This record gives sequence, C-alpha cells and structure tokens, in this order.
Amino acid sequence: MENEAKIVYPATTAYVRTLLPKSEGYLLRLEEEAHRDGVPIIQPEVAQYMRVLMQLHRPTRILEIGAATGYSASVMALSLPAGEIDTIELNAETARIAAEHFEELATFHPEVSVRLHVGPAEAVISDLKGPYDFVFIDAAKAHYSAFFEGAYPLVRPGGLIVSDNVLFRGMITDDALILPKYKTIVKRMRQYLEMISEHSRLTTSILSIGDGVALSYKREADGA
Ligand SMILES: C[S@@+](CC[C@H](N)C(=O)[O-])C[C@H]1O[C@@H](n2cnc3c(N)ncnc32)[C@H](O)[C@@H]1O
Repeated sequence: MENEAKIVYPATTAYVRTLLPKSEGYLLRLEEEAHRDGVPIIQPEVAQYMRVLMQLHRPTRILEIGAATGYSASVMALSLPAGEIDTIELNAETARIAAEHFEELATFHPEVSVRLHVGPAEAVISDLKGPYDFVFIDAAKAHYSAFFEGAYPLVRPGGLIVSDNVLFRGMITDDALILPKYKTIVKRMRQYLEMISEHSRLTTSILSIGDGVALSYKREADGA
C-alpha cells in the first residue's frame, strides 16, 4: 500500500480492495509466494482491471513484457476461454519459477497456451511474430519506450497496449517525491507518457489505480 499512497488515497484503495473477489487456489498461492519472496506483481485492483479488459476485449494473442513469476500472465489466462500468451522475462531464476507455474496452469487451463521467452525483451521481441491483440508492458521502467518500439508494430489495429507502474510511486506527477536514484526513470517515464499520449495512432487513458496504469488503443488509421 505504501507505494500507491502517493497516487491513490489509502482509504480508497483499502475500501476498493474489500470489494474485490477473494483469490483462492493457484492464484492465491502465487500471490503469497510473490509477497513472501519480494516479487513485485500487479496489485489486486490492477489484476481486476486486467480481468475486465480480458472479458471486454477478448484477446486471443497476448504479448507480455515482464513475466516475473507468472502471476499477471496467469490472471490473464484464467480470464480467457482460449488463446495464446507470449511472455518475456529477463531473469533466469525468476523465469524458472514462472515456467513451473505455467506448467501447473496448463494442467487445469490448457485452453490458453503460455510460452515463456527468457532474455531481454528488447532482443526477444524481434523474434516474435504479430499480430497481437493485447500487449502488457510491466518490466524495467526506464525502458518502456524501447519495449513499446519493439511491440507497437506487432499490435493489430484495434489492439490494446497496457503499461503498468506509469505513475511510479507518485514521482512522475510530483517533483518533490523524486528520489535522486530514480531521476532517470522519472525522466524517461514522463517522455514515454508524453509519447503514448501524443501518438497519432493511439488513444491513451492514464488511470491512477495501483502504481498508475496507461491504457492505449491502437486506432485503425492516423487520427481516425
Ligand atoms: C514488475 S515485475 C513483473 C510482474 C508481473 N508482470 C506480474 O505482475 O506478475 C518486472 C519483471 O520484468 C523483468 N524485466 C526487467 N527488465 C526486463 C527486460 N529488459 N526484458 C524482460 N524482462 C525484464 C524483471 O526481471 C521482473 O521480473
């Protein structure tokens, strides 16, 4: 809650969380493991937002940048009747845990196939083939523009790009909160947000939920 406190009034987050469905089984275990091991996964209200987006947009091909231990990919997979998810993770040990989780997921939800790619997304993306209906960017915050550059051409017209942590603990909106070690991240994230907000083919909405989420819709043509 501490990180989001500068973005959303804490009592609001606490109240909204009382209304969310309680996690159980496989997803609850992934959440508990992540919290125990300090793995940063999407917050509960962001997970619920992703579920709504899955049900509304019904993507069949998804690209995720930043798998960590596989929680957000599992949330997406379990919200869909069928489909494919390509997810990329840089850290080999984290990816090993994600692979175990995806193996388990396949035993009870085989209709969505999850392919895990291990390596830097900037390089892995060039080997992937679009079109994707939905892209989720949730990896190194200073590199969102590079991830976008690789992923954008693979998104079909009418597709969505969701970027997490775009308000980064409130530092993006308030200079007084910026810690010196995060100056570069803040500068680059602001550039990223300006780029996706002014992009001729995107309609972007920035939401102050969790650590900040940007939703970008790729229009059929410039200005349309
Ligand atoms: C915030 S975590 C992802 C959490 C995950 N999406 C979830 O909610 O379950 C970010 C992950 O991105 C990975 N990462 C960082 N830089 C990356 C890169 N250049 N390419 C691929 N993954 C990267 C990190 O190792 C980390 O596991």
